[in-house]
Amino acid sequence: MLTGCGPTARGAGVEDNSTPPSKPELLSYNPVAKSLADVVSIPAGYTASVLFALGDPISASVPAYKNDGTDGDFEQRAGDHHDGMEWFGLSANGSRDDNATERGLLAMNHEATTDEKLSSFFLHANGGTSTLPRPAAEVDKETAIHGVAVIEVAKSAGKWAYVPGSSQNFRLTALSPIEIAGPARGHAQLITKYSPTGTMTRGTLNNCGTGKTPWGTFLTGEENWFGYFTRGAADDAARGNDKSVTSLKRYGRSQGAASRHGWETGGADDKYQRWNNSKTGASANGSDDYRNEMNGMGYIVEIDAYDKTRMAKKRTALGRFAHESAAFGKAVVGQPLSIYMGDDSRGEYIYKFVTTAVWSAADANPTDRMAVGDKYLDSGKLYAAKFNADGTGTWVELAMTNTAVAGYATYKFADAADIAINTRLAADAVGATKMDRPEWNAVNPANGEIYFTLTNNSNRSIDPTGSQYLPDASNPRAYTDMKGTSKQNGNPNGHLVRLKEGASVSSFSWDVYLFGAEAGADKSLVNISALTADQDFSSPDGLVFSKATGICWIQTDDGAYTDVSNCMMLAAVPGQVGDGGKKTLSYTKADGSKLDIVTPVGKAATESTLKRFLVGPKGSEITGLAETPDGKAIFVNIQHPGEGTAMANVGDATKYQSQWPSNAGYGAGKRPRSATIVITKNDGGKIGT
Ligand code: FEO
Ligand code: CA
Ligand code: CA
Ligand code: CA
Repeated sequence: MLTGCGPTARGAGVEDNSTPPSKPELLSYNPVAKSLADVVSIPAGYTASVLFALGDPISASVPAYKNDGTDGDFEQRAGDHHDGMEWFGLSANGSRDDNATERGLLAMNHEATTDEKLSSFFLHANGGTSTLPRPAAEVDKETAIHGVAVIEVAKSAGKWAYVPGSSQNFRLTALSPIEIAGPARGHAQLITKYSPTGTMTRGTLNNCGTGKTPWGTFLTGEENWFGYFTRGAADDAARGNDKSVTSLKRYGRSQGAASRHGWETGGADDKYQRWNNSKTGASANGSDDYRNEMNGMGYIVEIDAYDKTRMAKKRTALGRFAHESAAFGKAVVGQPLSIYMGDDSRGEYIYKFVTTAVWSAADANPTDRMAVGDKYLDSGKLYAAKFNADGTGTWVELAMTNTAVAGYATYKFADAADIAINTRLAADAVGATKMDRPEWNAVNPANGEIYFTLTNNSNRSIDPTGSQYLPDASNPRAYTDMKGTSKQNGNPNGHLVRLKEGASVSSFSWDVYLFGAEAGADKSLVNISALTADQDFSSPDGLVFSKATGICWIQTDDGAYTDVSNCMMLAAVPGQVGDGGKKTLSYTKADGSKLDIVTPVGKAATESTLKRFLVGPKGSEITGLAETPDGKAIFVNIQHPGEGTAMANVGDATKYQSQWPSNAGYGAGKRPRSATIVITKNDGGKIGT
């Protein structure tokens, strides 16, 4: 099985009672060392078990996963690249029970797939087809392993397992029908051959971070969806160089862009052709082609995990970008709800959505959860964040009433729907602060402060050229980190910022909570948080606060420090905005001039406030965390173990970068598989104590 399953760290039954431990303290476990081993490493005294891996059946009618590239029926199996995840408690009769601790549903994202040269090679017997056209059968598998899974899990005789035959299990894929809701519903920019009324689309794609609403539904963010679409080489002219060309370029699809997997070449069927986001038809409005298809992706999608008969809805009021998580501020009766979101690309922005409706306690446990979603998520105000150098900040509303938006020269906004669809352009118009790739965010249940991971940014430079820009107070680092002999420039290790809401809806204060860095790096410009060997990390990404313990779980998706350690998860017990004073980062530019950046920072971490808890297998990213309400079990996703395997080696297991989880005793075949693990404490205590 996995490592770390031995006796408890303190020695079961042999504790010295003359020095009774005080209460079960947070972070009293022994830290996990950085590791390059092909295992999941956790502290002594804890047990980790594999629960649900790529290909596992979610229906009793589907055979066990052979894991040799011959499996089918992926609409009824676990998808690939498990990502963000939320827990939905179940009562004995299978209905919603927020207090349940031993039975529940896990709703999780299946973000992407391990690929090379177009093909998701571990899914196909011979590694698949790496040239165009792609065979329909391969495309059908690949679209089916994207999306979302909802599975029942239960604890029985002390052991957690998922329930393969549960009638509550279901999948959404890249082709599932989904309704468009909010201001963009029915808009001209959403008209397609599939939905001439602009009210429907198919599929949710590249789902990364998640959220859970106060009324008990699941939110999933669509992140790098644009890469799945192709555009013809002369599509700009075909569109008459209208404003859709500006939009497409801003969202990463210049004309001639190739799609990631070539799904549009699967055949004449509409389900393949929809991946070609070019104007191919003669209609004026796009009702005969898929020129507008990309406008149906890039949203926060609401799903009722408890009821698979309810169609999911894309909540367009929350804007369209590379969405990560969607975290709610504290719900206060009589006040609007706030939802925080990040856009993960270099130099993109942080956002807040504030509902028009004010929170009613009667909505916490409704009979029709999606109707409550309509009430709160389809109408409100969307803001982008501006960070000021003095530690204050402004939420700037993105609306036609804002003259910077209405009068924007680069893109002529027509209406609120246009802003919902082209949110990035509206945030450009108001001069929001370019951040170092905003990944997940999470709200500290202790004080309502909002934490964002900023994973890394190679475009930050002291001497910017081309698309680069200077560091600023909220993204203050630009340095070089060596990975072997290769230089990594910008902010390769990432950081976390946190925000505290101000007296008005448009004001906040902030600091840099923590800087990722190698423990041995220079403490004035790189390892500013003075991380030790038990704390150092790079490229923070997944971020979840435990409601049971208050621990802030930080997960990494790293490529900078992976010469020293596989990706990891740390437990943190943070303080509050402004608790660490200010630091000055003093740079010398190439021309000899000085650049001083003063930035507010968090109080330095100690061994009782930050400690590594887990290191994943080779090639994996650690992402997604859900917990039972008692804090005694956590579910964590291990994404893309072995992703560094060469496609040419798919037939030779000895050449796989990773053989996890088969090397942990789970499942058939040796091909590495993304999987959910469950972690419990051997003494039955809360995780992280
Ligand atoms: Fe989905 Fe940006 O990690
Ligand atoms: Ca390094
Ligand atoms: Ca991620
Ligand atoms: Ca990432």
